[in-house]
Amino acid sequence: MNRIVTDKDTAAARKVFVKTYGCQMNVYDSQRMADALAAEGYVATEAIEDADLVLLNTCHIREKAAEKVYSELGRIRGIKAEREQAGRETLIGVAGCVAQAEGEEIIRRAPVVDLVIGPQTYHRLPDVVKKARAGAKVVETEYAIEDKFAHLPGQQAKAVRARGVTAFLTVQEGCDKFCTFCVVPYTRGSEVSRPVSQIVDEARRLADAGVREITLLGQNVNAWHGAGPDGREWGLGELLFKLAEVPGVARLRYTTSHPRDMDDALIAAHRDLKALMPYLHLPVQSGSDRILKAMNRKHTAAEYLQLIERIRTAQPDIAMSGDFIVGFPGESDADFADTMTIVREVGYAQAFSFKYSPRPGTPASERGEQVAEAVKNERLQELQALLTKQQHAFAESLVGREIDLLLEKHGRHAGQLIGRSPWLQPVIVDENAGGIGDIVPVRITRTGANSLFAEGV
Ligand code: 5AD
Ligand code: SF4
Repeated sequence: MNRIVTDKDTAAARKVFVKTYGCQMNVYDSQRMADALAAEGYVATEAIEDADLVLLNTCHIREKAAEKVYSELGRIRGIKAEREQAGRETLIGVAGCVAQAEGEEIIRRAPVVDLVIGPQTYHRLPDVVKKARAGAKVVETEYAIEDKFAHLPGQQAKAVRARGVTAFLTVQEGCDKFCTFCVVPYTRGSEVSRPVSQIVDEARRLADAGVREITLLGQNVNAWHGAGPDGREWGLGELLFKLAEVPGVARLRYTTSHPRDMDDALIAAHRDLKALMPYLHLPVQSGSDRILKAMNRKHTAAEYLQLIERIRTAQPDIAMSGDFIVGFPGESDADFADTMTIVREVGYAQAFSFKYSPRPGTPASERGEQVAEAVKNERLQELQALLTKQQHAFAESLVGREIDLLLEKHGRHAGQLIGRSPWLQPVIVDENAGGIGDIVPVRITRTGANSLFAEGV
């Protein structure tokens, strides 16, 4: 910083630009960080050139994610230099899982960075920014003992800003599963569940701000547990029933789940709770028992299929979604064929598939038998072709059907509204169908490339 900050400067609204990479939990965290900074006088901007503070909320789950951050920092270096030449303060911060994993290394590799803050310490962000404004390079990646959620603005009525009719709500963070390919247990720490009262309060505030659909988030969301007001230990199933009672909340979802944590109460919620949408993201990663064991997933392919059978018995309308990894160390042609088989057996409405990417510090990255890049590419293509076919088949199966649509926003073309189906698909309807925030019955008329078209009924 090459100028003196005056009282006048501090009083004027400073601008923060937040760029989010990775999962929905990062989206949630970015919003809470923006809320925390709003209390310090920062307003959000969409234009990076105008920002006094640039925050990259990063993801470390696969290789390219971190590389993208470093190349973005290279680009930002130019913007910062230009702004500072004009005498404008410009702080650069890296948050999220790359911040947690790399710590000080980020500042060594990208000296343009002023502050590095890990996901467990976001409630300290205003303080960290103050120190950075005073000229210090700040790295804050210790696991905080205090409860970050209790200190983040989600807890203060006026701080919750309505950002639409759907919202995320983090109920659980961290993971104790230690799948051998995954960095999450290291970057997000061990499993922590937020208390029921905190979650219900936040849901109430969201509903008061106009939110109709809430997606509960957690790295292992169905491992959520807590003391219920009835004195019993609650699981996610019980929590969902409680949240459905919050006035204004019409729809509930949760993500991401681990097959080992789908208990009876949660399956019962899919059967009995109308507000719980018939859509389940339940990653299996591989269809081969040998690979599942090497991944430390703690279940077999047959157990996963039996579980889906039970869930479909409870809620026949449920659409399945999943995650897959191809080219895990030691994956043979036969193992990959097992993955293709399980995909055929389940039939997914939606899925995400990835090439295995060795993550530093994880057990799988140290194994021999790494699969050649060309083989990974081939397998990924084959798997994605099948998953795309299934996704289209699912969309086609809805044509002619009457469904409930939550109207979310205006479409790209005048006269159109975009809503969300119970199965998370974007659906385009005529604006006469209703108002934003309404849930209206519509009939699906045809499928588009990534959306459905419908008419009011
Ligand atoms: N390589 C490839 N994919 C991974 N995932 C997690 N770690 C890795 C990795 N090292 C995928 C898993 C997980 C999703 C969020 O990302 O499929 O479910
Ligand atoms: Fe990673 Fe496995 Fe935990 Fe999911 S369950 S976050 S894949 S370690």
